[in-house]
Order: sequence, then structure tokens, then C-alpha cells
Amino acid sequence: MSVIVKNVTRYFGKQKALDDVSFSINSGEIVGFLGPNGAGKSTMMKIITGYLPASSGEVSVCNIPVRDYSLELRKRIGYLPEHNPLYLDMYVREYLEMVAGIYKISGIKQKVKEITDRTGLAPEAHKKIGALSKGYRQRVGLAQALIPDPDVLILDEPTTGLDPNQILEVRSLITEIGRDKTIMLSTHIMQEVEAICERVIIINNGKIVADEKAYNLSSLNAGSGITITVEFDVKPDLEKLKLLKGVFAVEETGENKLLITSEPGIDVRPDIFRFAVRNELVLLEIIQEEKDLESIFHDLTM
Ligand SMILES: Nc1ncnc2c1ncn2[C@@H]1O[C@H](COP(=O)(O)OP(=O)(O)OP(=O)(O)O)[C@@H](O)[C@H]1O
Ligand SMILES: [Mg+2]
Repeated sequence: MSVIVKNVTRYFGKQKALDDVSFSINSGEIVGFLGPNGAGKSTMMKIITGYLPASSGEVSVCNIPVRDYSLELRKRIGYLPEHNPLYLDMYVREYLEMVAGIYKISGIKQKVKEITDRTGLAPEAHKKIGALSKGYRQRVGLAQALIPDPDVLILDEPTTGLDPNQILEVRSLITEIGRDKTIMLSTHIMQEVEAICERVIIINNGKIVADEKAYNLSSLNAGSGITITVEFDVKPDLEKLKLLKGVFAVEETGENKLLITSEPGIDVRPDIFRFAVRNELVLLEIIQEEKDLESIFHDLTM
């Protein structure tokens, strides 16, 4: 396990920002950490990286307890904080060399060259950070996180504020980096999770409300089932329809039009089609309403 979070609670005054949060991340996983504003994402990430202590609970990264905050621990974690604070007056190369110095890395110049090449910063490395576009500043943030060659990367909203092209570029950079690292990234964007993560952890009001493989997301219908709109040429026998396996409910919505609710995980469309054939009905329309990712997110976090 790369990251183990056990029963972490964090108070700010009386407010419980994290409420008994537990999860673990295997090495090599790319995990999306999703939740609305104020859910506790940044707080959790600051606790994992050792920037903020938990009120109670335990965190370890690569089997090192975070509360000790050793140099060894800091070398194993790369962290891109929210809002990516950078020294705007420093030159890119100068800044990255300074970061490498903090980690006491040998061969600083070579290391910085390798990282600027990897993050696509080489053509901009001679500029002041303040002169860079947001996308390139974000690359500087990623570059500084990569300098100690960490096993685990914690990225707090790595694509927020970027234009669509830059979002795609930074996402593909993260995917590329993720080939040999464990990554946890926070985002508000469900599509981002689909695009780059294998797993998603959803947090709301300081509590984990879902922890799923990313490809399971669309079937995470929050228990509400799938709805299918069906139209026949004549009105079918509703009672017979209700007997089909997986059909929850049948509701008339218009002349010869029905709304069928089925159990999650069962595709009843082939049986509806066979039902039509058996009963000599013509099936004029059959549309399955997939819940989109935004509405799943909404259901889980409202
Ligand atoms: N230093 C602090 N002092 C007091 N309250 C804080 C502090 N840091 C965070 N909080 C509160 O804890 C809660 C969780 O905040 P956090 O920044 O972790 O949310 P988030 O999920 O990262 O939100 P966002 O998506 O807006 O970045 C919020 O209610 C916030 O106001
Ligand atoms: Mg945040």
C-alpha cells in the first residue's frame, strides 16, 4: 500500500472538516478525489502530505508514518498544493534548482534538465515564472513535485483554471507520469476522473460517500435504477410487461408510450424487444436514459 488513511478526523474549531475518513491506495494506482467545494479534499491532502496534522487518526505513506514528517517521507511524496503557490520573480530553472537543493539532490543541473524535458518546460525554462501562462505555471508546479522522484504524487486540482487545450496537455502529462507512480488528484470534474483515473473516491461533508473503480461510475446510479422510454404501435398488456425479469415499474406516459424502470445492472431491452415480437407489437422507440456523471455526482453529494 502506498497511502493508508485510517480513521482520520480533523476539526477546525468546532467544525468537523473530516469525519472518520479511511481508505488506502495501492502503489501504481491513479485515484481521483472528487467532491464539492468545502468537502474536505484539500484538508485531506494536506494531512497526507504532512502539512497539517489530523485531530485524530493515522496516515502513512510508503509505510512511513506521516506524523514524524521525516526528510525520508518528504522525498517519497510530491505535492502540488491548491492554487499552486510559486515565486513569480524567480526564473523557472533557478526555482527548480532551489527545490532540488532543498531535497539535497546530487547532480542538480542534470536533474532539473531531466524534469524540464519531461514536463515540456525546456523552452520556457529561461523565463521568469511570473511571465508564464497558467498551463506552464502548472507544469512548474508538477515539475517541483517530481524533483525528489517521489513514489506518490498528491495533486490538488491540477487542471483548475486552465483552458481546454491546456487541460488536455496537463492531463496527458499526468497520465504519462502515472505510469510509474501512485497518484491522487482532486478535481470537481467527473470527466477528468473518467479520462485519467482508475478509481474514484467521492467525499462530501468530510465523509467518504463512494469509493469505486472509475468504470463502475456510470452504473453507480445511487440505487435509483435505469429508466427506459418505450413506444409501441398499440397499447401493450402492462401486467405482462411488469413480469419481465428486471422490470421494477411500468408507467404510462402517453398514448402507447411507457416509462419502464429497471433494476440497476440489468439490461431489460432485449426482453422488451422479444416481448414485442411475441405479442405482435411494433416497437417504435426504445431509449435507455443513462444517468450522466454530473447527476450521479449530484445524487451522491446532495
Ligand atoms: N485553516 C482553516 N481554518 C478553518 N477552516 C478551514 C481551514 N481549512 C479548511 N477549513 C474548512 O474545512 C472545510 C473543508 O475545506 P477544504 O479546503 O478541505 O475543502 P475542499 O474540498 O478542498 O474544497 P474546494 O473544492 O473548494 O477546494 C471547509 O468548510 C473549510 O472552510
Ligand atoms: Mg480544495
